Amino acid sequence: MNAEQLALDIQHLKISYGPVEVIRGVDIQVQPGEKIGIVGESGSGKSTVALGVMGLLAEGGRITDGSISIAGKPVNYEDEKRLNAMRGKDVSLVFQDPLSSLDPVKSIGNQIAEAIRWHNPRMSRREIRDRAIQLLTAVGVPDPAGKLSQYPHEYSGGMRQRVLIAIAIANDPAVLIADEPTTALDVTTQAQVMELLDSLVERLGIAVVLVTHDIGVVAEFCDRVLVMYSGRVVEQVRVEDIFDRAAHPYTAALLDSLPSRAAEAHGELKWIPGSPPPMTDVPPGCAFAPRCHWAVEECSVQPAARVIDAQKLHTAECHRAEEVQAASRQAGGEKEAAHA
Ligand SMILES: Nc1ncnc2c1ncn2[C@@H]1O[C@H](COP(=O)(O)OP(=O)(O)OP(=O)(O)O)[C@@H](O)[C@H]1O
Ligand code: SF4
Ligand SMILES: [Mg+2]
Repeated sequence: MNAEQLALDIQHLKISYGPVEVIRGVDIQVQPGEKIGIVGESGSGKSTVALGVMGLLAEGGRITDGSISIAGKPVNYEDEKRLNAMRGKDVSLVFQDPLSSLDPVKSIGNQIAEAIRWHNPRMSRREIRDRAIQLLTAVGVPDPAGKLSQYPHEYSGGMRQRVLIAIAIANDPAVLIADEPTTALDVTTQAQVMELLDSLVERLGIAVVLVTHDIGVVAEFCDRVLVMYSGRVVEQVRVEDIFDRAAHPYTAALLDSLPSRAAEAHGELKWIPGSPPPMTDVPPGCAFAPRCHWAVEECSVQPAARVIDAQKLHTAECHRAEEVQAASRQAGGEKEAAHA
């Protein structure tokens, strides 16, 4: 992959909160216009990676190693002025909870205008208003001109999330990071917001990093999936391969825990036994070992990412990745046979 052309290039990223390392060497490359999903259990580090990229880590959080480039430009996280110029312009973030992301005492029109003015200080009031209306129209807010003077509490949850998406795309970023963007919404609104996001990023050629608990959403929306476990990316795989080419036991277990798949294969929902180790006490070697039924002695040594399919950028951090993948293929084949 040509690093010059990448929308987002994260190399060997490590992040600590105080003395605790919570991101333990993460590599993520995203092509322009590509949509990647990051999945993994609670606490695996999905939001920390997102906040790290934005330069918005909570107090005590710091990048201790690695590098991040956005749209080909290396980011210097010590330079707050450059970070302010970057946020919204090169990379935007849409959070889970639209109400807490919007200022309750400012009208929606003012909040969109601020986002536009921040990166376009010479734009006239008229131009900014026109752009705000254009953005609200693009995200499907009805009567956009009339809605500009309203406040966040006058919008529904789904409409507020549309406003946040409008703010996020206001300055044509190369990358949009969406951290659980629909979790706070009802199922129908979730689907509408994801559809909107899909059509917008496709049209504008924005690369998307979607953080979610929901593999079903990833399968529908994304090109590629990154599976995180205990602060590392344990597998990267194209969406079309995830169900019958998974090469990491954790990915396979996550898929088995999906209600529809589990119901199909086993008649009941399966949970992954055990829970991830606390980040203060990650075992040496493979962090998944205590829960892994494939574990062998060798797993006490941290596995490097193995290339499963170079062309498809499929990698897995598992000593037994090839065997695990063979089992996934067999399971996939058996399922197909059962349906034939
Ligand atoms: N502000 C903070 N201070 C200290 N530790 C933190 C802070 N935020 C996150 N962590 C720790 O960093 C690790 C990764 O957390 P993170 O929020 O990134 O996980 P996540 O994958 O986004 O989880 P979730 O699915 O619940 O959103 C966890 O061990 C968490 O306890
Ligand atoms: S490296 Fe070992 S413990 Fe870790 S996932 Fe692979 S088989 Fe399981
Ligand atoms: Mg999170």
